Amino acid sequence: MDTMTITKAGGAFCGALLIFLLGAWASEGLYHVGGGHGEDHAMGYAIEVEDASAVAEADAEPEVPFEEVYVNASAADGERLWRQCASCHNLEGSNATGPYLNGVVGRDKGSVDGYAYSDALMGTGEAWTPENLSGFLLNPKEYAPGTKMAYRGMGDIEDRANLIAYLATTE
Ligand code: HEC
Repeated sequence: MDTMTITKAGGAFCGALLIFLLGAWASEGLYHVGGGHGEDHAMGYAIEVEDASAVAEADAEPEVPFEEVYVNASAADGERLWRQCASCHNLEGSNATGPYLNGVVGRDKGSVDGYAYSDALMGTGEAWTPENLSGFLLNPKEYAPGTKMAYRGMGDIEDRANLIAYLATTE
C-alpha cells in the first residue's frame, strides 16, 4: 500500500462518516420538527379553538333572551334550587342574613322594612322584575357592585328562570 492509497481510503472513510453524521442530524432535526415542535403547535391550536368556543358560548347566552326561557320555566324544578339560597334567606316574611324573599318578584329593590341593605340595592328606584333578578343571580357582585350578598352566582339561564318562577309562586 502506498501513501496515496491510504489517503484515498481515509478520505473515503471520512466522507462516508460525514454523510452518515449529516444524515443522522437531518433525520433527528426532522423528527423534532415533525414530533415535538409539531405537537406543541397542535396543542396551542387546540387551546385556541377551545377558547374560541368558550367565548362563543358566553356570547351565545344573551342571544336566547331571558324572557323566552322564562316563559317555559318550571317552578317545580326551581324549588330544588332554593336550597342554595335557604342558608341566608327565608320565605316566611322574616329577615335572616338576607331579607325575606317571599313576594320578591315585582317587589322594589331594597324595600323590606327593617332590613339593613347595602347601598348597592338602596334607592335604585327599580323593581325586581324576573329579568333584573336573573341579572343579579347570574353574578351578584357584577350586577350590584358593593352588594353584601355573598353568593357566587348561578350560571345556567334555565336554572335562574326556574328558580325565579318558583319565587314568583310565593307571596
Ligand atoms: C351567603 C348568604 C346569601 C346567599 C347564599 C344568598 N343570598 Fe341573597 N342576599 C344576601 C344578602 C346579605 C342580601 C342583601 C344584599 C345587600 O344589601 O347588598 C341579599 C339580597 C338578595 C336579594 C335582594 C332582595 C331585596 O329585597 O332587594 C335577592 C333578590 C336575593 N338576595 C336573592 C337570592 C337568591 C335567589 C339566592 C339563591 C340563589 C340568594 N339570594 C342567596 C345573602 C345571601
